[in-house]
Amino acid sequence: MRPTESTSSPLEDVETIIVDEIAIKKRLASLGQEIDAAYEGREVTVIAIINGAIIFVADLIRQINIPLQLDCIRVSSYRDEASHLQTPEIIDRIRLDLEGSDVLVIDDILDTGHTLSHITEILLAMKPASLKTCVLLDKHTRRSVDFEADFVGFKIPDEFVVGYGLDFAERYRQLPCIGVLKAELQNPPEWAKQPDA
Ligand code: IMP
Ligand code: MG
Repeated sequence: MRPTESTSSPLEDVETIIVDEIAIKKRLASLGQEIDAAYEGREVTVIAIINGAIIFVADLIRQINIPLQLDCIRVSSYRDEASHLQTPEIIDRIRLDLEGSDVLVIDDILDTGHTLSHITEILLAMKPASLKTCVLLDKHTRRSVDFEADFVGFKIPDEFVVGYGLDFAERYRQLPCIGVLKAELQNPPEWAKQPDA
């Protein structure tokens, strides 16, 4: 068995639940209303950053009542522990023509801000009519670039969290809540080597 593998139920590996299933459900309903109001009378083009935003986007778009188009962009950020550098690399481009569209980019979590600031730069070059961003979680104390999201589900403290789409080495995405992994299961050097989608 490889060191990060666990045979227990994924929920048993969680030390503390910081956002439970009910809170997520409630917040998604109100986020859907905020998005409906912001784009009233228009169609929104949702760009999901996968893999992390898969679960969030799937649930959120069902709380949005205005017309929408959906596409995905796949990004890989390799965290370099030595230099603390992160270079998000786009490994699967979107297919939609964004020119003149009202684009809403959705990610699981806003951490240092590198991923979303890089992606929004790329999408702006595609000449959308407008570009906004939405994240489920915002670790605001960790920001290293000047970037804020237009729609935020929850502000959370600086803890490494998993669940509801967020992973540790591609695991735990299926948890219905968001929680902090047990300290003994957190292995930052191992995580640093993983492509972070
Ligand atoms: P940023 O570029 O530092 O803002 O990082 C954004 C990406 O890092 C997210 O899309 C996540 O994939 C990953 N990430 C940041 N913090 C966490 C965490 O606490 N749990 C899981 N993934 C995280
Ligand atoms: Mg990830």
